[in-house]
Amino acid sequence: MRKAKILATGMYVPDFVVTNDLLAQVMDTSDEWITQRTGIKERRVVYDTYRMLQRLAQAPDKDAFLKELYERGLDGHIDATMTTSDLALAATEMALKQANLTAADLDLIIQTSVVPDYAYPGVACVLADKLGLTSTPTFSMNQGCAGFIFALSLADQYIKTGTYNTVLVVGAELLSSFFEYSNRGRDMSVLFADGAGAAILVPAEEGEPSGLISHHLHTDGTLLTKLYGEVFGTTTFPPVVKKKIDDDRVRPRMDGRAVFVYAVRRFREVILECLEANRLRLEDIDHFFFHQANTRILEAIAESLNIPREKIPVNIDRYGNTSAASVPILLHEACQEGRLRRGDLCLLVAFGTGFNWGATLLRW
Ligand code: UT7
Repeated sequence: MRKAKILATGMYVPDFVVTNDLLAQVMDTSDEWITQRTGIKERRVVYDTYRMLQRLAQAPDKDAFLKELYERGLDGHIDATMTTSDLALAATEMALKQANLTAADLDLIIQTSVVPDYAYPGVACVLADKLGLTSTPTFSMNQGCAGFIFALSLADQYIKTGTYNTVLVVGAELLSSFFEYSNRGRDMSVLFADGAGAAILVPAEEGEPSGLISHHLHTDGTLLTKLYGEVFGTTTFPPVVKKKIDDDRVRPRMDGRAVFVYAVRRFREVILECLEANRLRLEDIDHFFFHQANTRILEAIAESLNIPREKIPVNIDRYGNTSAASVPILLHEACQEGRLRRGDLCLLVAFGTGFNWGATLLRW
């Protein structure tokens, strides 16, 4: 059977850097707390969020500023000069350039994000439009932080079966539009940020060692209220009304401790599941590309499985948690830095809302 391989990668993060110190000017937090609890020093956000944070930092009455922002129907938070699909487009263009391809060469687009441009259609349709494509099929997925792993597995199936040859997988997140930069929103808003990462997959040559080997995917919906957001949902109608804002139901929700504990457990389990399925030992893996959720989560996994730290690339200190974009950004940076050699065994693992989690084993 055919095998799929990653031909090229791309990434995009906005230019605007939000330091922990800037966040400490808009809410009760500190560089020390954020660094110790999460490992994050700074993150990137789109201009609109950056400008809003600057204004919030200057505002004499921050509660009044936020109230006004929310009473303008949430629209005031972000003027949408950049949307999720724009981030996806920038990462896609880099990957296409690296692959020496144009958008017209793509047979299929699989895109994954938590926060879409519109309620409908999905981000992939908007991205296809921005790429000038009028009949290339697309999937818009939302598997949270695990989205890239789930999307990769789909791309692999289409290539293996010979249905498609050139597949774009892109994780893009404009999360800063979603979170509340206030004391009550501080548990989440210090963690998440904006960015996009893309990969272009093609069939491996006959006899070529490179390629995707196996995927291990899981979902447990029973714990969805541990990490979820109502704003774009249809569980209540109409989606955003003043009462809902007054009832404080428009903010994303997270039980950080529960997510932490569950993430460490499921990371560990899925790594062991993948190793067992492929009759491999931990020592056989050259690189562990873990979703950048929190350095303490990464350390707990490394410690419990005894994985050498140098095999676990980390960039959460610079980008925060970019959800579905975090694994492809990490992968892209590793390629650019020359860390990856042809033939290296890589294990990509992610965990996120849903809960969804999964692992992909591939040979670079
Ligand atoms: O991709 C998956 C997405 N989610 C995650 O990966 C999240 C996983 N969880 C975590 O990363 C951690 O649970 C957090 C970083 C969110 C929180 O760290 P923690 O060590 O679990 O802290 P905690 O929630 O137990 O809170 C400890 C204290 C609380 O104060 P009290 O009740 O002890 O007085 C919080 O109110 O820290 C307070 N706190 C903060 N303080 C300063 C919560 N957020 C902040 C903040 N700055 N940003």
